[in-house]
Amino acid sequence: MTTIELMKERHSVRKYDEYIMPEEDLHEIIEAATQAPSSWNLQHWRFLAVQSDEKKQQLLPIAYNQQQVQDSSVTIAVLGDKEANQAADAVFEESVKNETMTEEIKNQIVANIHGAYEQVGFAHNEALINASLAAMQLMLAAKEKGYDSVPMGGFDREKFKEAFNIPDRYIPVMLISIGKGNGKVRKSFRFPVEDVLINESF
Ligand SMILES: Cc1cc2nc3c(=O)[nH]c(=O)nc-3n(C[C@H](O)[C@H](O)[C@H](O)COP(=O)(O)O)c2cc1C
Repeated sequence: MTTIELMKERHSVRKYDEYIMPEEDLHEIIEAATQAPSSWNLQHWRFLAVQSDEKKQQLLPIAYNQQQVQDSSVTIAVLGDKEANQAADAVFEESVKNETMTEEIKNQIVANIHGAYEQVGFAHNEALINASLAAMQLMLAAKEKGYDSVPMGGFDREKFKEAFNIPDRYIPVMLISIGKGNGKVRKSFRFPVEDVLINESF
């Protein structure tokens, strides 16, 4: 399948067959998700994997009893890092090491990043935007590996944070259940390109 075919074949699936996902598949899917672009390459994502029966049971009511949480192989909570600026030094140190950047330029960029993170609302928006890009890649990678998935915004974020000990710096952006779909796929409607593409200006 080409990437475009894969995108057209991905649909939200809510009914799953029982299947234990091999650890290496999860690893590969997460690794693909982390190839997403991010502002300043700060990689504002963390992935919390819920796959034990006990933890699925705990998550189920928090996700308003959406059955896919229980029936899928794993539900990944995609978290956005509100303190991703803390990663700036490590990220740009790599550029200094491989001599694509001087120490002086690195220090300037890192200072600019910390400055940007002082703006009200900036860290929150960055966490959401960048973690969402990784979430999309995660779903496409899962599809490529023969899995179906469904993203979910329908869960109680406060209860989720409490139940799974999420540190305050992370925003629970969405849950993504992944597993072997039971084959019944409902293709969803899309507006035609003519309705969504604006040429040059409104
Ligand atoms: C941010 C977000 C939140 C969503 N929340 C839920 C949800 O809580 N439960 C659910 O069953 N589907 C949820 N969906 C899936 C959408 O209903 C679905 O993506 C949309 O209807 C298009 O269908 P498709 O994914 O099959 O193309 C969510 C999707 C997104 C992107």
